[in-house]
Amino acid sequence: MELNSEFLNKYNVSGPRYTSYPPANFFHANINSDNYIEELQASNTQKPENISLYIHIPFCPLRCHFCGCNTTSGQNRSVVRRYIDAVKKEIKIVANNLDLNRRVTQIHWGGGTPNSIAMSFIEEIMNLIKETFVIAKNAEIAIECSPAYLDFSHIDELAGMGFNRVSLGIQDFREDILEVVNRQAPKHPVKDIVEYFRQKGFSGINLDFIYGLPMQTTESFRETLNKAIEIKPDRIVTFSYAHVPWVKEAQKKLEEIGLPQAKDKIAMLINSIKQLQDAGYISIGIDHFAKPEDDLAQAYLNKKLHRNFQGYCTLETTGQVYGFGASSISQLWGAYIQNRKGIFEYMDSVEKTGFAVERGYILNKNEQLARSVINSIMCNGILIFDEIASQFQISVDEVKNIIAFDKSRFLDFENDGLIQINNNSITVSDKGRMIARNIAMALDPALKQGEAIYSKTV
Ligand SMILES: C[S@@+](CC[C@H](N)C(=O)[O-])C[C@H]1O[C@@H](n2cnc3c(N)ncnc32)[C@H](O)[C@@H]1O
Ligand code: SF4
Repeated sequence: MELNSEFLNKYNVSGPRYTSYPPANFFHANINSDNYIEELQASNTQKPENISLYIHIPFCPLRCHFCGCNTTSGQNRSVVRRYIDAVKKEIKIVANNLDLNRRVTQIHWGGGTPNSIAMSFIEEIMNLIKETFVIAKNAEIAIECSPAYLDFSHIDELAGMGFNRVSLGIQDFREDILEVVNRQAPKHPVKDIVEYFRQKGFSGINLDFIYGLPMQTTESFRETLNKAIEIKPDRIVTFSYAHVPWVKEAQKKLEEIGLPQAKDKIAMLINSIKQLQDAGYISIGIDHFAKPEDDLAQAYLNKKLHRNFQGYCTLETTGQVYGFGASSISQLWGAYIQNRKGIFEYMDSVEKTGFAVERGYILNKNEQLARSVINSIMCNGILIFDEIASQFQISVDEVKNIIAFDKSRFLDFENDGLIQINNNSITVSDKGRMIARNIAMALDPALKQGEAIYSKTV
């Protein structure tokens, strides 16, 4: 089957994105800080042994109408000050429960827009992290930035604090499109910004784009990606615009302006894959692209890719993730624990109790196994049953029983040339990787078919 709209329409069903397993809609409120403390302590002897830290900064000077992230705008400096103090308190209390001989291999600052707060606030937290933890020499220290608020002096400061990875939210290069979605244009040419990050020793430099925004056409998006290719970032992400106005009220404004038709969105997807592959990028999954020499592309080619809520990462550097700040999610071997989403609820709770747990999920052994199966397909496009069996010290038949494996669910994939399947393995073809979510759904023992709560798989 060709990569065309007929193919994508066939497999374009509602399904989880599998950024976690079980997906976040399984999280429930019957989890409290005592459970979190138990899981923190247990995580010290579980895999992976490294520590990843995630700091969530829910502040943006202006809110883009399309935004699906947990953020706020219009907060004054005293609120940000109070927030930074709460995050520092949370870090200290979580650290009290961790084996501090474990090494930190990843620090990720996300948001919101972390670079929109004072650099001195970022530095305070980075100093605390450095005083508290052992940071591995090759640690990836990443920050998500909007170029609307980025000066060259900020890049100097970030490099001075030890940051070595950056992801820039571009979304589109057309200023009229940015204006209509209420987004501020970059302060300096993105090419110069990327060049300066590179001079300062940053690698894995990523640019984020979104297709499916108002006024975008297949031609305009092609031009935007051509500009991106000229800039030569190490990585490019092309997100499909996730329209969930029932959760994000502001997105209704985009309906008023008018969104591209589904067929145009699919054309943008097909064109972007071809365009970026022709430009020498390796496509990872449906929407991530990396230069062949980039760590992520190398990990993908060597089947050593991993994934967490912050995106793809390599198996070498990944750790169990400890999240700090409003809405952040800790992803431990045994549990997911999410903080309160509202910034004031988060700060009140941390100030009173040191924690702000809102919901989460504790995984039993069978769910841990199903997670390994799903991750294997989602990240590396291969599932080898006897490897999972030996990892969990059970037989292949037991593995198949636990995930309620049913070969008949794979017939269509096989006939369409999307997988090769035998008794011990499922290997996903290059084209099959476009619909890895659908294949993962067929291996998911907990999936309630037909649930409309998920976005479309394509
Ligand atoms: C936290 S933001 C990145 C940093 C910064 N706030 C910015 O916008 O430049 C993470 C990314 O999520 C993506 N995003 C936000 N809302 C989205 C939506 N509704 N659908 C798809 N992608 C979305 C954007 O591409 C954005 O760059
Ligand atoms: S700047 Fe980034 S996080 Fe902030 S509203 Fe826009 S897309 Fe969302």
